[in-house]
Amino acid sequence: MKHFLRVVTQFFLFLYCKCLWRGLKFVVRKITGRCELQRICYNNKPGARRTLKIESSLRYSKNELCQSALSVHPDCVEKTVDNIMTLKKINPDTNPQLSISLQASLFQIVGYRGLVAEVEKLRREPYDCENLKHEEMLMKLWKALRPDSPLTGRISKQWCEIGFQGNDPKTDFRGMGLLGLHNLLYFAEHDKATALQVLQDSLQPKQSKMSKAEWEQKNFDKAIGYSFAIVGINITDLAYSLLVSGALKTHLYNVAPEMPNLIHFQQTFCYLMQEFHRFWIEEDPCDIMEFNRVRSKFHRRVLRQLKNPDMALCPHFAASDLHLVNL
Ligand SMILES: *[C@@H]1O[C@H](CO)[C@@H](O)[C@H](O)[C@H]1NC(C)=O
Repeated sequence: MKHFLRVVTQFFLFLYCKCLWRGLKFVVRKITGRCELQRICYNNKPGARRTLKIESSLRYSKNELCQSALSVHPDCVEKTVDNIMTLKKINPDTNPQLSISLQASLFQIVGYRGLVAEVEKLRREPYDCENLKHEEMLMKLWKALRPDSPLTGRISKQWCEIGFQGNDPKTDFRGMGLLGLHNLLYFAEHDKATALQVLQDSLQPKQSKMSKAEWEQKNFDKAIGYSFAIVGINITDLAYSLLVSGALKTHLYNVAPEMPNLIHFQQTFCYLMQEFHRFWIEEDPCDIMEFNRVRSKFHRRVLRQLKNPDMALCPHFAASDLHLVNL
């Protein structure tokens, strides 16, 4: 009985808060003459600050048109914004900026959804040796990372030189499918200097700050370096979970003024590879057995950074490459 009463009280409290919130919005609207979407656009600069608020305003709206706006096809964004303007009785002629701002935010929102779907599809596509496109990408990866040493065969011990586990990389792609290959290739081709540096460092048993005796003590069978490709595939997993959980919204809404796409995701991956590498060196783990610990600490750090709505995970890419939202 006691429990029942508590549930009932909570229920009414919930209703009460909800009515209070609706009432408050109504009063503010009457006083300022603006609806919530208008206020968000006026009070927040473009990018994550604005788009995140618009997204949650639409999501919790009691109107079906607003809720469904979040999942419209990109081709319908303009029409949807017009409909919202009509619904909210906002005159587009006296508020031209508003429909532009709403449109930009809605493009980001539906773009993010599209990107999640695209990335998921690549992750589910297994690496297929019979597929020429897949094989071609793999060969390109080798050429980009080892320009001076030709591969002696498709199945070769050489793959270990770029951090695969055995003589056929195929098996290593199991976890992340084609997504892992796409990311590694993008990193190797578009952020070449960094990729080569990270690869080279990963092969070294780290810095030579230590004395000879210390080197020997540290037992180099357990190399301090790590396997480049394997770690790349694992950081792909990290980037993927940041994307799917929605944590990457902050970053992508800040760097993609229109629709976030696969290139933005791949650039994020490059950033994460570089930062993880730096973090690994800073953490100074004894050996690869500490990978779990270092990885989860790194993950937590990135999540913390992404809590800041002004955050963009920008590496050394020129701002013009990323089209930073800076209107
Ligand atoms: C990456 O590493 C974490 C921690 O070691 C592990 O849980 C995860 O399954 C790995 N992901 C892939 C794709 O190997």
